[in-house]
Amino acid sequence: MNRKTRLSRRQFIQGVAGATAGAALAGGTLDAQDAAAPFGADHPTLDSLSCGEWWTKKPKGANAPPALEVPRDQVVAFALYTTDRGVLKMSAQLFPLKPGEAREVRLELQRQGTWAEAARAAVLYPGWSAHFRIEKWDASADVPYRVRHGEKAVFEGLLRRDPIDKDVIVVANMSCNSSRTTGLRPEIIRHLRKQDPDLLFFAGDQTYRHTEHTAGWIEFGLQFRDVLRDRPTVTIPDDHDVGHPNLWGENGKRATRGDGADGGYFYPVEYVKLVERQQTWHLPDPVDPAPVERGIGVYFTRLRIGGVDFAILEDRKFKTGPLGRIPKMGPRPDHINDPAYDPKSIDVAGLQLLGERQERFLHTWGQDWTGARMKCVLSATAFCGAVHMHGKRDGRLLADLDCNGWPQTPRRRALEEIRRARAAHLCGDQHLAVVVKHGIDAWGDGPYAFTSPALVNTIYGRWWHPLDEKAGPNPVPGSPLPWTGDFVDGLGNKISMMAYANPSDIADEKQRADGYGVARFDKRKGTVTFECWPRFSDEQFPGWPLTVAMADNDGRKPAAWLPELQFEGASDAVVQVVEEKSGDIVYTQRASGATFQPPAYAPGAYTVKVGRDKPDAVELKGLDAVADRAAAGRRTVRL
Ligand SMILES: [Fe+2]
Repeated sequence: MNRKTRLSRRQFIQGVAGATAGAALAGGTLDAQDAAAPFGADHPTLDSLSCGEWWTKKPKGANAPPALEVPRDQVVAFALYTTDRGVLKMSAQLFPLKPGEAREVRLELQRQGTWAEAARAAVLYPGWSAHFRIEKWDASADVPYRVRHGEKAVFEGLLRRDPIDKDVIVVANMSCNSSRTTGLRPEIIRHLRKQDPDLLFFAGDQTYRHTEHTAGWIEFGLQFRDVLRDRPTVTIPDDHDVGHPNLWGENGKRATRGDGADGGYFYPVEYVKLVERQQTWHLPDPVDPAPVERGIGVYFTRLRIGGVDFAILEDRKFKTGPLGRIPKMGPRPDHINDPAYDPKSIDVAGLQLLGERQERFLHTWGQDWTGARMKCVLSATAFCGAVHMHGKRDGRLLADLDCNGWPQTPRRRALEEIRRARAAHLCGDQHLAVVVKHGIDAWGDGPYAFTSPALVNTIYGRWWHPLDEKAGPNPVPGSPLPWTGDFVDGLGNKISMMAYANPSDIADEKQRADGYGVARFDKRKGTVTFECWPRFSDEQFPGWPLTVAMADNDGRKPAAWLPELQFEGASDAVVQVVEEKSGDIVYTQRASGATFQPPAYAPGAYTVKVGRDKPDAVELKGLDAVADRAAAGRRTVRL
């Protein structure tokens, strides 16, 4: 039993009154874990619904979060987990506990019909979460679990085996769960349970409670726990989760403005850490764990599910804030609506998007195909500004610097890394579902990206609506949508619009174009199918589904061919093509079958590297790329 579990109500209240964040009470049974204002005197009401004498606070009103005082046999609210590389990581979220209740939960696993305790974990304050990490995890079998508190409270679920033998890996792509619409989400849960995703991805804005993350997080958990409980889940916080309207984290520095436009985080470090602990602790260990400024952690990492390798990015944490970095050209530091502006004028040298560390991670991740047949990048928002109207149906805006279309130079670097891995991209944030194909140098030469709609869109509407109301060049053949094809976004980025789901009537909650996306990665066919499901309908939005070849995430047109490789000793080898003149990696991909003829996008000399999981076994130097595919010859590669 935890040393802090037995204390009277009187002791507790005395302790709360006297405690300050970070300092233990001398000689008492209670330490700073129960401080009424654990985020410091400047922020006495932050997360207050679950801090101090939380049970005396009863939020009222139509938009109030759920009551945090529940029957004591229900205090385990929900749990989230991932398994990868032989490690199970799980976060259990509790409702706030009362003085005298055990500050500990147990994880029990069922094997051959028998439950046994596998681990214990402390319930942390503030935030009331508890975290389990179990090594040597065997992901080849389903294992029922339950998280228990005290004698009676229990939350049950299933630790799924890795679906490595499934041909199609199904990912639900979700974001932006408006807190203005309270209550459960039965219309979404019913469909999700039927579609039975192998992975849930929540890209951010799981809650808009801003200064009450724990209450908002528990609310999110109650809404989604009937799908969270029995499959792996990725949740990454976005701006609203940390209490911002927008977030340019600038390596963790302190923001001095509530809108965050000067870069950094506005709320105290301990609050940011609480949000990241609750939302991301259960992700696989960070690949590069050094904290950023002020001790704020990082969580960017990779997760493999059924042979699909996901890079999980933090596209907000390192990004430079716009205020004072670029000329002001609109009503806000992050909005531009001056038609005379030159997009190049805001692509200022030295601005960061993913930051050097994450760019390095993507570069390395793209070359390591261990346990992977396909690759996909997950992040909060989109690498373009695929939207015209913001907030209001007539709210036309040229450019929004909150999206990853800015800054343009590091956006290009990010897309080049995604393309090098032949990866697709899933994200949220925009409250406007779109599928685009990025253009890096030319339209269509970059990867596909699917931005999910808002799960519940009672916060902010956005619309795709070209000024001339015309389709672009190369519209999607047969699309029911009028405005597909090639466009330039307000930041000067080339995009090909493939599908979009505009709200038809923002006054009607049933016509706000909310819902979620599904991506089906078909390993046998080498394709991904994007589906977009409305919240209130059994039929997909017009323009979906879209099926594309994963190889076309690199949309460059082959201009020359290297010799056909014939693998001996292993098939499905990993092939890397390096341009000798520049030393640049052109791409790294897993081939399918016993042969593969690598394309090149310019004539010249190349090095081709081949291996079973990484391009590390055989190196063929000085290969000439030739225009005539048949004349390129053959090489045997022994693995
Ligand atoms: Fe949002």
